[in-house]
Amino acid sequence: MLEYMGARGAICVVADINEAGVEATRKDLEAKGLRAMGVSCNVADEESVEALFTRVRSEYGRIDVAVLNAGILRDGLLIRTDRDTGKIKGKMSLEQWQSVIDVNLTGVFLTGREAAAHMAELGHGGVIIPIASVAMHGNPGQSNYSAAKAGVATLTKLWAHELARYKIRVAGIAPGFIATEMVMKDMNQKALDMWKERIPVRRLGEPKEIAQTAAFIAENDLVTGVVLEISGGVVI
Ligand SMILES: NC(=O)c1ccc[n+]([C@@H]2O[C@H](COP(=O)([O-])OP(=O)(O)OC[C@H]3O[C@@H](n4cnc5c(N)ncnc54)[C@H](O)[C@@H]3O)[C@@H](O)[C@H]2O)c1
Repeated sequence: MLEYMGARGAICVVADINEAGVEATRKDLEAKGLRAMGVSCNVADEESVEALFTRVRSEYGRIDVAVLNAGILRDGLLIRTDRDTGKIKGKMSLEQWQSVIDVNLTGVFLTGREAAAHMAELGHGGVIIPIASVAMHGNPGQSNYSAAKAGVATLTKLWAHELARYKIRVAGIAPGFIATEMVMKDMNQKALDMWKERIPVRRLGEPKEIAQTAAFIAENDLVTGVVLEISGGVVI
């Protein structure tokens, strides 16, 4: 995403909780001749998010596009029963629920709020691009993730209305199954094989296809208040 945006002239800010990843990505972007700054940030932590945006503003004097992309998976069924006895043998833990809500929903709230606050104060408008998921429609095994992403989709639409007066557009992306670390490492591979059969284009999406969509949103002044499903046609 950053490489794609950088190649189109953006100065990129790499912000992630993974410090080593931030530094490696920043170096990689610079090696490709792109301008980039790295900041480690926990999107679920208010002070950390406030510090990120304050730093970016003081460094560059403006914030044009914010892609709210951080996310985690902690999949599991709401309850699991023993096939023979019918007794409960597992539940989605509160920690499993809360950790995903903290990063995927509260993280979007905090980063979206800070992006909006700085863009509004600076007075030049801007674009906020929250990353939802097709799971926002309700994917079994993902109570935590689906609830968070449905919240993200709703925030996207209501922020578009609230923030239009500041010339801030808000449009989201709901990816389907994209070949990233999250899907290749964190997702249940049996479930992924099942889903592959159900994707009309018969393949996972590529990260570049999501980056292209973010660039399209950033560049098209008429796009706001929508969540674009970029999924190869998969229906949840
Ligand atoms: N890959 C897919 O198929 C897919 C599908 C739908 C939606 N999405 C969404 O796209 C976004 C990007 O996912 P991805 O597939 O690139 O996953 P990824 O795991 O490759 O990247 C997610 C990034 O978020 C960072 N992160 C996690 N917790 C954080 C925190 N508290 N603060 C800051 N950063 C944090 C991770 O370090 C990681 O670099 C996520 O919001 C995800 O839910 C992905």
